[in-house]
Amino acid sequence: MKFTIASLVSAVALMTLSAVQVSALPVVPKPATAVSIEKRSIAGLNNYDCQLTAAHPRPLVLVHATLLTADSWFTFVPVLIEQGYCVFALTYGQYKGSTFGGLDYIENSAQELATFTDNVLAKMNVTQVDMVGHSQGGILGRYWIKYLDGAGKINRMVGVSPITHGTTLDGITNIAKAFNIFYPAEATFNSFAPSFYEMVNTSDFIQKLNAGGDVAPGVIQSNIATMYDEVVTPYETCFQEDAGVTNVLLQDLCILSLNEHLTMIDSYVVLQFVLNQLDPSTAKTANCLSGF
Ligand SMILES: *[C@@H]1O[C@H](CO)[C@@H](O)[C@H](O)[C@H]1NC(C)=O
Ligand SMILES: *[C@@H]1O[C@H](CO)[C@@H](O)[C@H](O)[C@H]1NC(C)=O
Repeated sequence: MKFTIASLVSAVALMTLSAVQVSALPVVPKPATAVSIEKRSIAGLNNYDCQLTAAHPRPLVLVHATLLTADSWFTFVPVLIEQGYCVFALTYGQYKGSTFGGLDYIENSAQELATFTDNVLAKMNVTQVDMVGHSQGGILGRYWIKYLDGAGKINRMVGVSPITHGTTLDGITNIAKAFNIFYPAEATFNSFAPSFYEMVNTSDFIQKLNAGGDVAPGVIQSNIATMYDEVVTPYETCFQEDAGVTNVLLQDLCILSLNEHLTMIDSYVVLQFVLNQLDPSTAKTANCLSGF
């Protein structure tokens, strides 16, 4: 990797640029997994007039991954709404005006999730939500429960490639490279994305998150991982160790599913797993030919 002053300046400037400009910047060679970030608005999301029903009595809060936004749920949300869920999502962790989420200190992001979810609970006049979190989004709820005021407020949590036990340095390098923003120096990362080094498995944050156990007491928990994960390595570290947790490998559902870390939320097989967890009474076998 070449490291030049010009590229350093580009990296620091990135966060003030639009997504289109970011993908145009030749900061590092674009890897095969490069992600294009699209701004979409998702119909029906964050509708506080949505009617909760006996079949779906709790609001569903979706929590996106590092470097993504609420818009990243465009595959899941229409189906969840069609199935009768009231679906809510925020963009958390924007840092120094960044377009992207998930970059701020993770403690701050957990507080943002807390504030957002407390507001959903109040407006929807209920005491509990269900939560689905992708990657970094899969641990914020547990931090909320353990260290903020979230205890008792989550009924069920589903992790989609959650960073339950953190990632490795290779993992954060890979996610950064997928967005063309990799820099080898921790100080550089910290200046625009302090969450990155907090996600490393040896960080104080991850130690604190999992102190005393990696499950949230009283919450029904399940996780789905992919063997092609290039961020959470090894992929088994997504799983929670408690016997009461349902841990599933995507390729055990559909051996031909090729989804990697970021594209898990584009998969209808993953979506079917999420639906089955949210409402086991209507669980169906995933259709492995359903695209992706
Ligand atoms: C909120 O829920 C409580 C208990 O279910 C109910 O008694 C109350 O009428 C509800 N309030 C509103 C504004 O719907
Ligand atoms: C962190 O990950 C590395 C690489 O997989 C592993 O060797 C190490 O034991 C892990 N450390 C902790 C504290 O989990």
